[in-house]
Amino acid sequence: MERSLTMELVRVTEAAALSSARWVGKGDKNSADDAATSAMRTVFDTIPMKGKVVIGEGEMDEAPMLYIGEELGTGEGPDVDVAVDPLEGTNIVARGSWNALSVIAISDGGNLLHAPDMYMEKIAVGPEAVGKVHINNSVEENIKAVAKAKNKEIEDVLVVVLSRPRHEALVEEIRATGARIKLIQDGDVAGALNTAFDDTGVDLLLGIGGAPEAVLSAAALKCLGGEIQGKLVPSNEEEERRCKEMGITDIDRVYYMDDFCKGDDAIFAATGVTDGELLKGVQFKGERATTQTVVMRAKSGTIRFIDGSHSLKKKPNLVMDVEEN
Ligand code: FBP
Repeated sequence: MERSLTMELVRVTEAAALSSARWVGKGDKNSADDAATSAMRTVFDTIPMKGKVVIGEGEMDEAPMLYIGEELGTGEGPDVDVAVDPLEGTNIVARGSWNALSVIAISDGGNLLHAPDMYMEKIAVGPEAVGKVHINNSVEENIKAVAKAKNKEIEDVLVVVLSRPRHEALVEEIRATGARIKLIQDGDVAGALNTAFDDTGVDLLLGIGGAPEAVLSAAALKCLGGEIQGKLVPSNEEEERRCKEMGITDIDRVYYMDDFCKGDDAIFAATGVTDGELLKGVQFKGERATTQTVVMRAKSGTIRFIDGSHSLKKKPNLVMDVEEN
């Protein structure tokens, strides 16, 4: 992949974050998501690549834009698989809460898992604990392994879990070990990403969230030297049928890093929509708006934090017209 795509992707997530941030706290998650999706789609038209959406807003008949299989980019440049979540945390924005992100990952064509849109059980850790945890191990074994790898007491380990009724037993198991828990309302991509950044205080992500989000998390953790493992959790007969149609015969199969994101290269970008542990959200300041983005590449291992200051006068719709780029 071209190195220059790294900066191009920042423009894409910035545009989506700026557009959806207008909807913070308005109780309208669909409008927030539509704004992010449409801005992201517009900027993609300017990017020199032959992209194909593998993780997107839904199947072709469900989503008008950024649907699975849609071709993106100018059509000139490298063949890449594209995973997008224009707004990761639609409810977060509707509530005006923490950790909403606009997210993209790309890899060479054929490298990203076409994960079905269903639940997945996940475990994610940062670099120190890679190879030390396993999704089939008990919660206690995994927490002990993370504590040892990070040279911490178990009581100091912080586990991120989506706050859901389905996680009641998991939460009890974690509490029984003595570890601490951060229950999040939404946004397990941020949860996974945060395990690889010391300053967030997060050591481990456990629990069930979306399978598409696991692919995005895997691309990020590949850049960061961390790890995610997952197991699909079809929740009804229709989802079981979909797995079979996709050739997934072993429902207990464990997906590892190379299953989610093959090869040694991937580029991941995330811009904060609302404030989080890692990234500041969009701020509107009179004639300008500010963004904060993390962008990284697996091949080089470079991680960049980019502060953007955007002229609202020159970009009244928060995105430049394609001809003006
Ligand atoms: P959306 O942005 O699509 O609303 O997803 C937010 C999210 O919290 C993900 O981070 C997570 O993987 C998934 O939803 C969990 O799904 P559910 O809300 O059904 O438990």
